[in-house]
Amino acid sequence: MAGNANRIYNFSAGPSMLPLEALETAASEMTDYNGSGQSVMEMSHRSKVYLEIFEETKAALRAALAVPDTHEILFMQGGATFQFSAVPLNLLEGGTADYAVTGNFAGIAAEEAGKYGGVHVAASSADRNHTYIPAAAELKPSPDAKYFYYCSNNTIYGTEWKYTPETASPLVCDMSSNILSKPVDVSKYGLIFAGVQKNMGPAGMAVVIIDKTLAGRELPYTPKVMSYKVAIEKDSMDNTPPCYTIYMLGLTLKWLAKRGGVPAMEKLKTERAALLYDYLEESKLFHAVADRSSRSDMNVTFRTDGAETDKAFVKAAENAGFANLAGHRLVGGMRASVYNAMPVEGVQKLVAFMKQYEAAEPC
Ligand SMILES: Cc1ncc(COP(=O)(O)O)c(C=O)c1O
Repeated sequence: MAGNANRIYNFSAGPSMLPLEALETAASEMTDYNGSGQSVMEMSHRSKVYLEIFEETKAALRAALAVPDTHEILFMQGGATFQFSAVPLNLLEGGTADYAVTGNFAGIAAEEAGKYGGVHVAASSADRNHTYIPAAAELKPSPDAKYFYYCSNNTIYGTEWKYTPETASPLVCDMSSNILSKPVDVSKYGLIFAGVQKNMGPAGMAVVIIDKTLAGRELPYTPKVMSYKVAIEKDSMDNTPPCYTIYMLGLTLKWLAKRGGVPAMEKLKTERAALLYDYLEESKLFHAVADRSSRSDMNVTFRTDGAETDKAFVKAAENAGFANLAGHRLVGGMRASVYNAMPVEGVQKLVAFMKQYEAAEPC
């Protein structure tokens, strides 16, 4: 791989590959950021030098996703799982919300919301082990829902929503595993959140993009650290923010902008996914798991006809420099997570390896 011969092709679902350029810039600035004589890790979050990084990162994210002025961008600790609680605590108001349960994480989010109010399962793909996304006509939103929740890309099952649900209530979306991979009309959403450890930076933080009119509805016992209203008022700095993670996000966004932004990422992800799915269509050894109409361009799930054969392939691939191809423990098989930072060349090489492996394997 360019720049560093020791880098592996890492197909992990997250934390996952970050742009080499971002890592190298971070390394070169590790002990002395921009002549400041200090590491970004050592800076006061209130200092001028850090606030510049913070503002630049926020502005870069706003530009990358064309976030309108009606929406605020928040950086919140606790990863995406924190948002499974923060969303109902802030938006449920003791009422009922619609949840589309199309995978493990949407299921966990729905369960969490049930602690604070009513949950109406407006769609589910559990009948076929989450191998598909229900069609728009199959969604059953409830009339008085406080919001409609879905997860746009199911990291474990390898399925992705190809449409944006049209709902009367505000749309809330977990975009952890496909944010910044394609353009999104943010104005359609009440709230978007995403754990950063796939397409954006190191783990432990979520980006939240919220329609400002939704803030201030939290239940009285909502922890202050989870309040969107407080986070907006304090510009994500009611307590010390994850300063270094925000800096890394900024470096990733610089890399992304240099490469042509989100539209360029969309082209690349289509190319990467097509390489894998086209081969899976023709292969006699490997089969794609998800329905064709619902296949994720970020997490490509596939398997052979047996768990032992799967294991043998994962091991051989690991030995050949293709890391973390084992599927999630809930589903087994294989999963190639091909986020923005995965070079197309990495996927070309993986497909070449799979072809070679298949040719040597008596089917
Ligand atoms: C779609 C999705 N939502 C939520 C999560 C949970 O994220 P975190 O571990 O940051 O809480 C994940 C983790 O991989 C995910 O893929």
